This record gives sequence, C-alpha cells and structure tokens, in this order.
Amino acid sequence: MLPEEAKAVAEHQRRRFNELVDVFDRPQPPEVMARLWEIVASVELSPGAVVLDVGTGAGVLIPLIQFYQPSTVWACDVAEKMLQRVHDKYPAVRTCHTDIASLALASTSVDAIFMNGMYGNIADKSAACGNAARMLRSGGRLVVSHPEGRAFVDQLRATSDLFIESLPTKKEFEALLKPLGLEVIAYRDEPKLYLMVARKI
Ligand SMILES: C[S@@+](CC[C@H](N)C(=O)[O-])C[C@H]1O[C@@H](n2cnc3c(N)ncnc32)[C@H](O)[C@@H]1O
Repeated sequence: MLPEEAKAVAEHQRRRFNELVDVFDRPQPPEVMARLWEIVASVELSPGAVVLDVGTGAGVLIPLIQFYQPSTVWACDVAEKMLQRVHDKYPAVRTCHTDIASLALASTSVDAIFMNGMYGNIADKSAACGNAARMLRSGGRLVVSHPEGRAFVDQLRATSDLFIESLPTKKEFEALLKPLGLEVIAYRDEPKLYLMVARKI
C-alpha cells in the first residue's frame, strides 16, 4: 500500500472509531475477560515495565496491564475520542494521538507492546511492526491478539465498511517479523483466541 493510501485508511479509521467510543466502552462478557487476562499474562510483565497499548480504543486492556504494576503505560490510537475516554478513566496513562507506524517513542525503551483486536485495522503493517521493533528493548515482546479469534475478524471484514484484513498465519508473521529482528515464540490460532507473541532478539 502506498503511504498516501495508508494515510487515507488511518483517517477513515479515525472518523469511524471516534463514532464508536460508547460501543467499545462497555463491560465485556466474563469469558472474553478471561481471554484478555490470558493475552496480557502471555508476556509475564515485571513490576516497573514500560508497556505500550496500540489501538487502545476505550482502554479494555489498561486495567489488566496496570495489575502488573508497570512504571509507564503508553496508549496510542488514531481516534482522539477513544484517547480522551482512556485519559478520563485512567489519568496515569500517557496517550499518543498517532498511527502506530509513526509513533515516536524512544528506541529500545519499551518492554511490551500489545496490539489487541486491532491488527487487521492497520494499513501499513510493515511500517507498524518495524516501528514496534524499533521501540522494543532487546528481549521485549510484541503481542498481536484477538479475544474472539480469526473467524470473528473475517466476519467483520464481510460486514463492515472499515479497513480490516485477515489475521496472519504463523508463516506470514515469521516472514514479516524475522527481518525486523523479532522471533515468533508463541502462536495460537484457536476458534475463540488468536495470540501471537514475538520476542525482540
Ligand atoms: C477494534 S478497536 C480495538 C480497541 C481495543 N484494543 C480493544 O481491544 O477493545 C481498534 C482501535 O485501533 C485504532 N487504530 C486503528 N488503526 C490504527 C493505527 N494504524 N494506529 C493506531 N491505532 C489504530 C482505532 O482507532 C480503534 O480505536
């Protein structure tokens, strides 16, 4: 995808997700919450960790991340109304209104990056993952997850006007991430859980 096309996609996402804040800011069913806890647990966060939640939306992952007593939680999103909601609910979180492809946190400054329920929305996945790899410290983790699984994403693709791509296979992720210095260390593609964890070498 050309950079101008990626920008147009991000702008469309911004407008549409700004309209959807209340839809995303709802309590999740217990079984979904259980899978979200599993997703966050997959990186074994240490106290004091620096964590980035990409495409944070209304911040469903934030309290789960905060449970692990991080020193800093960054939340990035293209939709400013989502970020406002996160700021109102979790004032300690540092919000960044930008596409993940151009988020300018310092290099090797982040311990874990979560992309939950949003990877399919990213227009320029090479740029996004390249920037994530840059920000991760050595041994840091990138998590791409969806608590409803691949079929849910594919159904959304068929019914939504949003830009959504199918979730990558393990081989596709390995081909994308290896040149960026990221090694896939866990991959689960189950009916109700998609979870990929990569480690920065
Ligand atoms: C489906 S919502 C998911 C929100 C949240 N992570 C969750 O699991 O409920 C996707 C979010 O990603 C944001 N988003 C989409 N593309 C993005 C990008 N390239 N960079 C940063 N945020 C993006 C959208 O604005 C939206 O708030």
